[in-house]
Amino acid sequence: MGWLFLKVLFVGVTFLGCLYPLVDFCCSGDTRGQKPNFVIILADDMGWGDLGANWAETKDTANLDEMAAEGMRFVDFHAAASTCSPSRASLLTGRLGLRNGVTHNFAVTSVGGLPLNETTLAEVLRQAGYVTGMIGKWHLGHHGSYHPNFRGFDYYFGIPYSHDMGCTDTPGYNHPPCPACPRGDGDGPSRTHERDCYTDVALPLYENLNIVEQPVNLSGLAQKYAEKATQFIQHASASGRPFLLYVALAHMHVPLSGTRLSADRRGRRPYGAALREMDRLVGQIKDKVDRTARENTFLWFTGDNGPWAQKCELAGSVGPFTGSWQTHQGGSAAKQTTWEGGHRVPALAYWPGTVPINVTSTALLSVLDIFPTVVALAGASLPQDRHFDGLDASSVLFGWSQTGHRVLFHPNSGAAGEYGALQTVRLEQHKAFYVTGGAKACDGKVGPPRLHEPPLIFNLEEDVAEAEPLEEGGAEYERVLPEVRQVLADVLVDIAGDKTSRADYTRDPSVTPCCDPHRKACRCHTT
Ligand SMILES: *[C@@H]1O[C@H](CO)[C@@H](O)[C@H](O)[C@H]1NC(C)=O
Ligand SMILES: *[C@@H]1O[C@H](CO)[C@@H](O)[C@H](O)[C@H]1NC(C)=O
Ligand SMILES: *[C@@H]1O[C@H](CO)[C@@H](O)[C@H](O)[C@H]1NC(C)=O
Repeated sequence: MGWLFLKVLFVGVTFLGCLYPLVDFCCSGDTRGQKPNFVIILADDMGWGDLGANWAETKDTANLDEMAAEGMRFVDFHAAASTCSPSRASLLTGRLGLRNGVTHNFAVTSVGGLPLNETTLAEVLRQAGYVTGMIGKWHLGHHGSYHPNFRGFDYYFGIPYSHDMGCTDTPGYNHPPCPACPRGDGDGPSRTHERDCYTDVALPLYENLNIVEQPVNLSGLAQKYAEKATQFIQHASASGRPFLLYVALAHMHVPLSGTRLSADRRGRRPYGAALREMDRLVGQIKDKVDRTARENTFLWFTGDNGPWAQKCELAGSVGPFTGSWQTHQGGSAAKQTTWEGGHRVPALAYWPGTVPINVTSTALLSVLDIFPTVVALAGASLPQDRHFDGLDASSVLFGWSQTGHRVLFHPNSGAAGEYGALQTVRLEQHKAFYVTGGAKACDGKVGPPRLHEPPLIFNLEEDVAEAEPLEEGGAEYERVLPEVRQVLADVLVDIAGDKTSRADYTRDPSVTPCCDPHRKACRCHTT
């Protein structure tokens, strides 16, 4: 008995390392077996149509499809923004970018990150006795106190931003293709410059505060994530405390990893092979949950935004959400836009014995809901001094209700106008655009920004492709318009009266992660 206790304590202490004081670790036996564990898996740039359970043309997601049959699948589930950093900031704060300050992406040289006086989900859960871990892409600031280990995560393993924001020795598939990192021992950055490629500094891989590889080996990354996730679940379960694990995958963002893919003898396109690799990785994490803490773990799978259309055949599928009003004007209607293809994402909830099996939910829900839902299920409480945009969706998850949001706001994520501005309003089945614009498409063209006053209004129940706006002056249009105006005015008043934060987007080359400044591309000595 004493030996077991010591062993558990030892595992916990080594695992949490220097980042978690011993005193906090001691007295958590009272929560054993009561609070649920949470695993949140966030895919990157995955299209709604990339999930086989959503879209019959896709046949590459056997594990996810099985998870859908064993849990709940959401078909009207939305990212909180349609680009990386804002979407992730909203997941971890339950607040839109206009409140949490993150309205566009952070750079390799960004000094700041998610504002320090925003409270993250990990901070709230850690306060409630949870062991917290994050694996994968952070992209909420890497310099100083913006690092995940200072934002509520006891454990971190992953890359600080997107994996196209640094060179590697295994460049994989990108469009246009990018070169491998420069080699040799010469001082300073390399001098190669390719359009759309980061060639000066190699992509780093962190474990907690240390760079453990630079450049990271992209071919082995999925396997490493699976191993680290498995170890985290194992150690956290052994510690007797409930856990939160947030896994932000590199898939399906470019570059798509190369080695295993070129060995795909069936000659299927790289995107499908990468989708299968992601599906296997999710399957490995789910298997570990099933073997370790099956009935006490809530697994939530979703995506950060829609496909990156400018990557052509290396971009995913929007399914039926083609945004054809926009694509006829030019540009893409996917990632970086407020068209459905930009933010309607695959979403699955899996919790054997608690979430009903093989159910499709049409409730209007959002990544913003993860924070309030998880906090409620953990028996913790939301910070009282600020407002949240998400809602507690647990009654939908338990199958007691079909009611999600009546109203949802989609912020601009780069395609047109001011970053973060609430340009598009979802009101039940209707969707109103005050600004339209297409992101860069495969043909290199963008759709020009256009203001609409009065707004364009689509009925998504009859027109999922957003092809034909309602006729202005028609009965349906005139019935919907006043309420659209009202809910938009209300949220802006609410935000004006809320505590909001401002992100520091200044840049300084000296904050770039660098293992060894004396080696080309900042290579670590060991790689
Ligand atoms: C990268 O990882 C792959 C897969 O794990 C491995 O086969 C390969 O040898 C690694 N390459 C380097 C340079 O370490
Ligand atoms: C899930 O539901 C679908 C449609 O209702 C049905 O065809 C299928 O057999 C069910 N699958 C399982 C595993 O229960
Ligand atoms: C963050 O700090 C700023 C500056 O002190 C303050 O105006 C703002 O209300 C704070 N935000 C939150 C969410 O507390």
